[in-house]
Amino acid sequence: MDESKVTITVNGTARSFLVDKATTLLEILRDHLNLTGAKEGCGYGKCGTCTVVMNGEAVRSCIVKAVKADGASVTTIEGVTDGYTLHPIQEALIEAGAIQCGFCTPGIVMTLHALLAKNPDIPDGELKQALNGHLCRCTGYESILKAGFLAREKMQKHAPVKA
Ligand code: FES
Ligand code: FES
Repeated sequence: MDESKVTITVNGTARSFLVDKATTLLEILRDHLNLTGAKEGCGYGKCGTCTVVMNGEAVRSCIVKAVKADGASVTTIEGVTDGYTLHPIQEALIEAGAIQCGFCTPGIVMTLHALLAKNPDIPDGELKQALNGHLCRCTGYESILKAGFLAREKMQKHAPVKA
C-alpha cells in the first residue's frame, strides 16, 4: 500500500509518520503516540469523543485523515496542562457534575478549549450548539451545558483585558 510521510506538531512537538491514505489522525494519536485521551466512540464524526484542536479549531479526529493533518499543529487533552494541574475548563466540568464515566469528557474539554480561546464571550446559543454535538450516555445534557457556562465564566477571568 502507498505510504506518505506526514509531519504533525502534537502538543508542541513535531513528529513524523509514514501513513497510508486511510490512516486517521485519531489512529496517529492513539496508536502511534499513545495519547489515549481522545476516544473512539462512533468512528464516523457524530459523537465528539475523539475531538482535538487542530490549527485552533475543534476537529473530530476520527474523520480527519492523517495526510490532511500534514503540517498542522494539534493539541490533545494531554497537552492542555502540565499534567499536574487541572485546566479551568476541566475544573468547570467537575464542579458542574458533568463527569461520570469520563468517556466523553476529553472531547468536550477540547471543544470548549477551542471555542473559548477564540471567543471567551461566546454567546449562549453558539455554546449550546457546539456542546449539543457531544453525546454523553451518563450525565445528561443539562450538567454539560452548566459546565460550558461555568467554563466560559472561568475563561473570561483568564482572558486578556480588552483595550
Ligand atoms: S469517534 Fe469521532 S466523532 Fe465519534
Ligand atoms: S460521562 Fe460517561 S459518556 Fe459522558
